[in-house]
Amino acid sequence: MTGPSAQPGSRILGTGHYLPKKVLTNQDLEKVMDTSDAWIASRTGIRQRHIAAPEEATSDMATHAAKAALQSAGISAADIDLIIVGTISPDVPMPSAAVFVQRNLVALGTRKDCPAFDLSAACAGFIYGLSIADAFVRAGTAKHVLVIGVELLSRIIDWTDRGTCVLFGDGAGAVVVGPATGDGRGILSTHIYSDGSMIEALQIPGGGSRLPFSQEVLDKKLHLVQMVGMDVFKYAVKALTASVQTALAANKMAPGDVDWVIPHQANVRILDAVQSRTGIAKEHFFINIDQTANTSSASVPIALDQAVRAGKVKPGQSLVFCALGGGIAWGSALVRW
Ligand code: UT7
Repeated sequence: MTGPSAQPGSRILGTGHYLPKKVLTNQDLEKVMDTSDAWIASRTGIRQRHIAAPEEATSDMATHAAKAALQSAGISAADIDLIIVGTISPDVPMPSAAVFVQRNLVALGTRKDCPAFDLSAACAGFIYGLSIADAFVRAGTAKHVLVIGVELLSRIIDWTDRGTCVLFGDGAGAVVVGPATGDGRGILSTHIYSDGSMIEALQIPGGGSRLPFSQEVLDKKLHLVQMVGMDVFKYAVKALTASVQTALAANKMAPGDVDWVIPHQANVRILDAVQSRTGIAKEHFFINIDQTANTSSASVPIALDQAVRAGKVKPGQSLVFCALGGGIAWGSALVRW
């Protein structure tokens, strides 16, 4: 975590994202389960989600997003010193999705021994990754860090549980973090948190060392995402609000100083509550949940790249990122673009 400083030590040099071609609409879901577009849209704001093709794996989506971020940063794959992948849906349990990405990028010139690791902080994975990248660049340990948030959630959700399966989608987002140039632009602060007393509110209970994979795990679908929705909802409203307020206070900024909140897209009603509690006007929240649904760690970097490419985010503007998910883990970052 970094507090405010007169000059940021790192900045985001480029952004990219990838969404699989296949779109699954609420109407499509209506045909296969007891749900409705009216329920999903009114309870969450979601209208559709992207679903990865059968031959696509997590690292494939991550690599697409990484290439786009490298291109937008204007740096070569050879200049990457560290690859951090926030994900809870890696290609395989071991090794990390990050080394699959590294292998893909070596073909483009990335060092054959470039360090790469996954980071498990669920929906907060990107903000955790940004916090680490900022620390590495500030310390001079790395010059350019690729931070990716990627999820292939359609493979780890229970498609017979309408309470969860309608909420999630697949996708990847990436940024390249590099040294700040002394013009005041960059990552001003990051704040990350977790609360293990809330583990049971959002988890995949089986398939790990606590409850190894077995026929029982399979039969009871314990290898898939389980969520106590309202518990997470209430926690999210309070914790996201507090993390945004902490970011503002740490930088001596008022709600009116924020140009864009780029939030985790879990539920538009959560964002409405955060908006009214923080006093940051709704038009300053970038919302794409209607198109992407909840893509966990990919959600903030996808939204960021969309906002940047749409020309909404302009140099010098103040951006607040915030996200919360399984753990419960959450955090915020304040960036001068
Ligand atoms: O990204 C990680 C962080 N995740 C979040 O932040 C998610 C936080 N939680 C939420 O966003 C909300 O809790 C949900 C959207 C998941 C659920 O909304 P809710 O208002 O908490 O609904 P509920 O689960 O209490 O269900 C209300 C009703 C139930 O029916 P009864 O018992 O009142 O008759 C459910 O069976 O809605 C029913 N329901 C559905 N109906 C149609 C639940 N899912 C569906 C569905 N379609 N897909």
